[in-house]
Amino acid sequence: MAKREARENAPREVIDPGAQHDDAPFERSLRPRTLDDYIGQTKHKENLRVFVEASRRRGEPLDHLLLSGPPGLGKTTLAQILAHEMGVELHMTNGPVVEHKGALAGLLTKLGKNDILFIDEIHRLNPVVEESLYPAMEDFHIDVMTGDGAFASSIQIPVQPFTLIGATTRTGLLTAPLFSRFGHIIRLDFYPEEDLARIVERSAALLGVKISPGSALGIARRSRGTPRVANRLLRRVRDFAEVLGSGAIDDAIVARACERLDIDPAGFDEMDRRLLRIIIEDYDGGPVGVETLAAALGEPRDTVEDVYEPYLLQQGYLGRTPRGRIATRRAYEHLKVPFVTPPPSAKQKQLFDE
Ligand SMILES: Nc1ncnc2c1ncn2[C@@H]1O[C@H](COP(=O)(O)OP(=O)(O)OP(=O)(O)O)[C@@H](O)[C@H]1O
Ligand SMILES: [Mg+2]
Repeated sequence: MAKREARENAPREVIDPGAQHDDAPFERSLRPRTLDDYIGQTKHKENLRVFVEASRRRGEPLDHLLLSGPPGLGKTTLAQILAHEMGVELHMTNGPVVEHKGALAGLLTKLGKNDILFIDEIHRLNPVVEESLYPAMEDFHIDVMTGDGAFASSIQIPVQPFTLIGATTRTGLLTAPLFSRFGHIIRLDFYPEEDLARIVERSAALLGVKISPGSALGIARRSRGTPRVANRLLRRVRDFAEVLGSGAIDDAIVARACERLDIDPAGFDEMDRRLLRIIIEDYDGGPVGVETLAAALGEPRDTVEDVYEPYLLQQGYLGRTPRGRIATRRAYEHLKVPFVTPPPSAKQKQLFDE
């Protein structure tokens, strides 16, 4: 939660892929309810359709499923859709909220047959709770200790067959025993522009706003590959269209709104540009350790790693080396800073001379 709390106090940015408090009502109304409405991620979607159909025919729960990917790509949405498609109930919780074994037992014993238990931020489960999840995932029972000292014994309490859906922004932080107990691992990727444009068009229709296909693409391009950002930017652009224009969204309104919101054509905001600028100007292009970078940005390390870096890395503006982050030529070009090849290090020189 530290990350979310820290962000609550930070200036609110349009392109922050994390959820902001005024997103909630819109997210609810714009959230797709069925696999057909879920745009993009075609390969995963088609596979899930098969798994759902097979499980339904057998009357069994879906295999446990891990959803991973940066914030705002549709993990929670997908969990809700799967519950809907399976015709079962979804019970939602969050890793750090399940504080002890008793709380987990309470959740598990409430589940109906084939229900889905969704644990968000599953990498933040407390290790004792996590361990008591293993037998539940494997054999649908929980071990409960009774009595003290010499009279202590463990009894098994059965739970209904269920599906655990875990969501995480950091697969790397999951323990191996937990990771290995998931039958399906789905890694959500940033969305291509065309898919985001379709999401923008769908959302505009639901909000009753007129938008041209070109303008939907314009918004999509500036949304850091993230549906949540695309929906939020659409809402902000709609404000400009209503107040400064006729209400309809055209290219001029998109350009004007983005300029006012300080979002550049690559979809970067002030923070992205600052991050790249720190590496280029203060550290000669890097490498810079992530701790140093986070301190210079005044953001928690988690936020830098979960929120800012993934898109910059994926788009090739940022590189990761064992000694830290580096700015690529693309970043120099974007910030219009002349790219100078760094002088060879003493070690490289020595290798060259040999
Ligand atoms: N494939 C999609 N098609 C249409 N809309 C989508 C899709 N994926 C996500 N969205 C929209 O983006 C919003 C954010 O998605 P969601 O809350 O599921 O992200 P998340 O991955 O759970 O993020 P977090 O890591 O912050 O919990 C949703 O409300 C939904 O409107
Ligand atoms: Mg979520």
